[in-house]
Amino acid sequence: RTIFVINGPNLNMLGTQQPEIYGLETLADIEQLCLKVGNELGFNIAFHQTNHEGDIVDLVQLAREAACAIVINPAAYTHTCVAIRDALTACDFPIIEVHISNIHRREPFRHHSYVSGVAKGVIAGLGVEGYAAAIRALATFVRT
Ligand code: DQA
Repeated sequence: RTIFVINGPNLNMLGTQQPEIYGLETLADIEQLCLKVGNELGFNIAFHQTNHEGDIVDLVQLAREAACAIVINPAAYTHTCVAIRDALTACDFPIIEVHISNIHRREPFRHHSYVSGVAKGVIAGLGVEGYAAAIRALATFVRT
């Protein structure tokens, strides 16, 4: 059982950019956390980050063949990208949208997500712990 964890643009800079909003953890720390929680629950974790919109579409399409669930932080593309939403719509397994920050406490342009309407659930504002919470939740939803 494999969960794809897909991270969008600029998340490779975590820990160095706007730590007051995103915290001091790096993307490598998040990957370690996901691998640990996945391992505890019997999931393989395929962890990805890209700065390119089309690459996220490719990863979602790949997940349809290779995964049983997706955890996705589309970062800024959350608020702009119909193509990622359409790719996710075609998946017949659970998708959990994660944001490190609480996008609803921030600028109005971050309040709308194209992804939320096709996600099973949305986690925002729990910091990197949101990724662990998403994987734990998936363990209860994903068919074995
Ligand atoms: C983010 C929130 C987005 O609005 C922002 O563009 C990001 C990160 C988050 O994890 O809090 O890049 O998705």
